[in-house]
Amino acid sequence: MIRLDKYLCEMSVGSRSQVKEYIKKGRVKVDNEVVKSADVKIDENSAIITFDDKVVGYTKVEYYMLNKPAGVVSATTDNRYRTVIDIIDDKKRKDLFPVGRLDIDTEGLLVITNDGDMAHRLLSPKKHVSKVYYARINGPVTDRHIELFKEGLILKDGTKALPGNLKIINSADESEIELEIFEGKFHQVKKMFEAIDLKVLYLKRISMGKLKLDNTLEIGSYRKLTDEEVKLLNER
Ligand code: URA
Repeated sequence: MIRLDKYLCEMSVGSRSQVKEYIKKGRVKVDNEVVKSADVKIDENSAIITFDDKVVGYTKVEYYMLNKPAGVVSATTDNRYRTVIDIIDDKKRKDLFPVGRLDIDTEGLLVITNDGDMAHRLLSPKKHVSKVYYARINGPVTDRHIELFKEGLILKDGTKALPGNLKIINSADESEIELEIFEGKFHQVKKMFEAIDLKVLYLKRISMGKLKLDNTLEIGSYRKLTDEEVKLLNER
């Protein structure tokens, strides 16, 4: 059971004060009857709620996969930049947030949800959830680097990174690599390459836990996660 104004607010009909006003004005019906008190409790699983005679369905949790573009921030609000939440234009819920952060110039897989438990399981430093990145690097990457990553690099700030699995796709003046890491500190991948005096030129996340970026999703597009994908994310 949930309060009528909360229901409408969560479903983005308006702010709490706006929906209270709509209810007072008789624009909201519960099971076909106008209800004028905001605090009436309704069963979100069975009641039919309408606003201006349009049904407002209830969605408890939402899960999206975004192929994050560069230039948007992994936040819910920002004064300067567009956020990843702004991109999800058909969202129902108001309380969506990105599961972790990608830098403004990083692209790729970002899960957006309001499922706090799932986010906690994926982000908790104790869980060591795998994250795989594709990157272009400003110089040759060698087998010695693979070993150093495997052993756990000492970063420039003196801290030790957890072992990571580095795979060389192509070593050249501009190399291509894939890196699997099990932690997600600020600028983690960039700092790991800085530790071996190299620079990340381009970074894209391609998986998180068992979830892989759908490579038919264009940069900047998103879709709902399938039930199967939600299950995969809950497996670890
Ligand atoms: N590591 C980084 O350096 N940046 C990201 O956005 C993600 C991981």
